[in-house]
Amino acid sequence: MLKKCALILFCGMVVSLLVRSAASLPQKEPVDFVRDVQPIFQKNCFTCHGPDQAMGQLRLDDRRLALKGGISGPVIKPGNPAAGA
Ligand code: HEC
Repeated sequence: MLKKCALILFCGMVVSLLVRSAASLPQKEPVDFVRDVQPIFQKNCFTCHGPDQAMGQLRLDDRRLALKGGISGPVIKPGNPAAGA
């Protein structure tokens, strides 16, 4: 149980960090999910949250599903990086 909680905490932390750092990159255009966020998810998260395995019912390979979140609801808030996940 403790292990599961730690994993959820870890995952949540990574999401908010990733979205925040992508949003604070010195670029003029707004953050684009497919261009800026998805490659990072693909590299680090698809093994457990992709098309083959959706742990916590969370899938990060599709913008709509990623924004919908997992078992505890939405994990990404588009357009409001300061609020975090
Ligand atoms: C080793 C497998 C694994 C990897 C890699 C992984 N996760 Fe997870 N993640 C899990 C598991 C297991 C859960 C909890 C599932 C449960 O509670 O039933 C979880 C839960 C989550 C949750 C909470 C979902 C919810 O609604 O409760 C988020 C958000 C999340 N992960 C994001 C990520 C992100 C972002 C990455 C990549 C940086 C990532 N995870 C990488 C296994 C993984």
